[in-house]
Amino acid sequence: MAICLFICDKIKDMSRVLTGIQSTGKPHLGNILGAIQPAVAMSNDPKNEAYFFIADLHSLTTIKDSAVRVENVNAVAAAWLAFGFDTTKNVLYRQSKIPEVCELTWYLNCFTPFPMLANAHSFKDKSDRLSDVNAGLFIYPVLMAADILLYNADIVPVGKDQKQHLEITRDIASSFNHQYGDTFVVPESKIDEKVMTITGIDGQKMSKSYGNTIDIFQSDKKLRKNIMQIMTDSTPLEEPKNPDTCNVFALYQILASEDQVAEMRKNYARGNYGYGHAKQALFELIIEKYADQRAKYNDFMNDLGELNRQLEEGEAKAREVAQNVLKKVRKNLGF
Ligand code: ADP
Ligand code: TRP
Repeated sequence: MAICLFICDKIKDMSRVLTGIQSTGKPHLGNILGAIQPAVAMSNDPKNEAYFFIADLHSLTTIKDSAVRVENVNAVAAAWLAFGFDTTKNVLYRQSKIPEVCELTWYLNCFTPFPMLANAHSFKDKSDRLSDVNAGLFIYPVLMAADILLYNADIVPVGKDQKQHLEITRDIASSFNHQYGDTFVVPESKIDEKVMTITGIDGQKMSKSYGNTIDIFQSDKKLRKNIMQIMTDSTPLEEPKNPDTCNVFALYQILASEDQVAEMRKNYARGNYGYGHAKQALFELIIEKYADQRAKYNDFMNDLGELNRQLEEGEAKAREVAQNVLKKVRKNLGF
């Protein structure tokens, strides 16, 4: 009895953490520091069971070239695995491989008030910016709700920009539960307000859409060239420089140890230390710090068989959960 209570308590203590990652490109240093590393840390917490998936159906709203999409899906999966996402404890899968999500999306569509989608910030923003304003973009939040509700997620860690999508999910789930009895777990969002914003090579927020990223997974030669492109001012070599306004230093101080940062501050202050030297130091630091992850990333990209094996293993587990939830939904709806 005591053992049962203990085990039941343990099960109750375990939270299912679920998040989706769009496959819109190869993950860059901003994605790694702002999203991948914190989420992998959360997945390694013994109290959590993580369901992380690659939202390739969502990326179809913007990426129509299938070869590009497949390449992105592989790159995203390889990056998560390289950074230590443990698929023996957790679940990694491609959204499109569990087509049950499309069926649930339809059901949820019929419980989603049209104005709620028409007023969503991200839809307004995308329909202002993009030339291809398709219906997929409009129901994007419903597919996202289906992603979450299909797997009984308790906690959904997302960036601030996804807050409204989570509210929509909670609204849809609550209204469905209200009409049909307890069907879905109503998830909590976890929005990390203090996630640092990593700056790109031009000093703006690093983002694929600004073309200012640092790709740590490219070859040494290309990575060095990428880092040498970081914009700096024209203070002459011999003069002292201000580290606090320098884009190279901004990245260096996030990655380096305290001692290395103190040393670099001295270099800037003493003069005769050029931006080229600082960039070289940043390049060497990245090479050293991420040696393991860069090697693993390349191993996965060169062994897509193994990458697929790990994904397929996750997909089998995810599908089982999805089918059970969907069965309940169909039954409650009378289908
Ligand atoms: P991008 O702007 O390059 O398209 P995404 O919007 O796909 O990046 O972001 C994927 C994840 O990476 C999100 O969780 C986002 O918060 C995080 N992220 C993206 N860029 C940065 C950045 N410059 N600094 C910190 N986190 C970032
Ligand atoms: N819309 C999310 C983004 O752009 C990605 C996503 C799709 C997601 N489905 C999800 C995130 C479900 C969390 C849960 O970042």
